[in-house]
Amino acid sequence: MVYSSPDALDFQLADCPALPAPQRALLTTPAYFDVAYVINPHMEGHAGTVNKDVAWQQWKALRATYTALDFEPLVLDGVEGLPDMVFCANQTLPYRRPNGTRGVVLSRMHAPQRADEVAHYADFLGRHGYEVTPLPDAVDSDFEGMGDAIWHPNRYLLWGGYGFRTDRAAYEALAELLDVRVLALRLHDPDFYHLDTCFSVLSEDTVLIYPDAFDAASCDLIHALFANVLEAPGHEARELFACNAHCPDGTHVIIQEGCTGTNARLSAAGFVPVPVDTSEFLKSGGSVFCMKQMLF
Ligand code: ARG
Repeated sequence: MVYSSPDALDFQLADCPALPAPQRALLTTPAYFDVAYVINPHMEGHAGTVNKDVAWQQWKALRATYTALDFEPLVLDGVEGLPDMVFCANQTLPYRRPNGTRGVVLSRMHAPQRADEVAHYADFLGRHGYEVTPLPDAVDSDFEGMGDAIWHPNRYLLWGGYGFRTDRAAYEALAELLDVRVLALRLHDPDFYHLDTCFSVLSEDTVLIYPDAFDAASCDLIHALFANVLEAPGHEARELFACNAHCPDGTHVIIQEGCTGTNARLSAAGFVPVPVDTSEFLKSGGSVFCMKQMLF
């Protein structure tokens, strides 16, 4: 079942099966990272401006941050000709079914420039023992993995953004494929083209969002299921990708440096901001959340 507004809700969080937190981080090296085309507004004007050396240093610092938080990352090498492959949240949606089966649903990238990334993740994750599940052939929808589909912490319940990259119909297919409830959120500002640019789950009852990225019914849905909704200031959300932060453990929030207003709100709510610099990756419209994939 796919839900789009609070009036449609016929369940409570407690009715959703428990979902253990994913314990494995996957990172992809920026060996061939670049801004080579423009498929989101943030990439505009940045073609050819990536400092490869700085990008590597920032990526290594991010890897070290996950290691320091006890999530030693699994690392996949980037592939020549696929400059966005470093954004490893997008090619798959990892899942753990209530019966314990662990796998990934493969994305269907909206941008043709990114289509070939998916097979590399299918191979790699298949070799690491994950069940690899394509969307059924009959489904004719784009789907960009965890860029748009995000698990509710601790619950077998999926949040799904649509409007720019993923089609809403993809969630009907996923709801059936994974036998899961999906809460569909409509995005309407091109700067926030993926759900993970404006929605960062922190704990079972707390989320960090940029409200203007959503239509009214979607905002209401978020408020219906999270007791605490923190809001990032506009400048930090738009320019610094504050809502692309990632909280891997319910406490620490890895976030682009400079998000002072957001950090104050996080700290006041009991979270611990862990700033990192992803400035080279912001040129491509991505930051922390897009640069890792959490595997069950
Ligand atoms: N340049 C990439 C694109 O436009 C950035 C992807 C960032 N990933 C994300 N999950 N927001 O597809």
